[in-house]
Amino acid sequence: MGRGLFVVFEGIDASGKSTQARRVAHQRGAYFTFEPGDTSLGAELRRWVLDATTAMSPVTEALLMLSDRSHHVRSVIEPMLESGRHVVSDRYFASTLAYQGFGGGVDLARLEAATELAIGTCLPDLTVLIDTPLDVAMERRTPDANDRFESADPAFHQRVRDGYLALAAKWGSRWCVIDGSEEEARVGELIDEQLRSLPW
Ligand code: TYD
Repeated sequence: MGRGLFVVFEGIDASGKSTQARRVAHQRGAYFTFEPGDTSLGAELRRWVLDATTAMSPVTEALLMLSDRSHHVRSVIEPMLESGRHVVSDRYFASTLAYQGFGGGVDLARLEAATELAIGTCLPDLTVLIDTPLDVAMERRTPDANDRFESADPAFHQRVRDGYLALAAKWGSRWCVIDGSEEEARVGELIDEQLRSLPW
């Protein structure tokens, strides 16, 4: 059996990506996973990094996210792909570049080097960026959403959104950008059109 396909969903908070990632995984019989936190070590790291009450620098955040990712790749993603299973992940390395790099100001070249150390050659076959304007995402957000990133100011989230678009432009061929301001069903159709090009 050949290696499975690896598809990643990215976007700002409340962009609608988690709903779409779960739907695609379900429809394609793929293994659904997410970052940060889909391993027992990851769940601990997630608790630390999302806890808004502990002050933490963007570099510290990045290193915790990368620890989670490194463990996630080796213990979940790679073994699944090698066994021939398709994997759909809600967030992957672009989240660290967008949030800690573009959003938090951590040097991008160093983050990219650290990312390579964390993930090795495990690159997604396709990254689906759900690009949602801030005001649309704000409306969708649940009122009690107040972890470290959800409580960050709008300027931070704007940098994250712009950062994602810059990343999509840079890595053009393995990325697609979907207009997240469309209604959910339409966003789903646009994603499915892009997924058709992959050898499922
Ligand atoms: P989560 O509750 O999973 O949010 P979402 O449904 O939006 O994915 O929380 C993850 C938060 O962590 C989210 O605000 C993005 C942030 N994050 C980073 O800042 N860097 C990263 O590398 C990752 C994976 C997530």
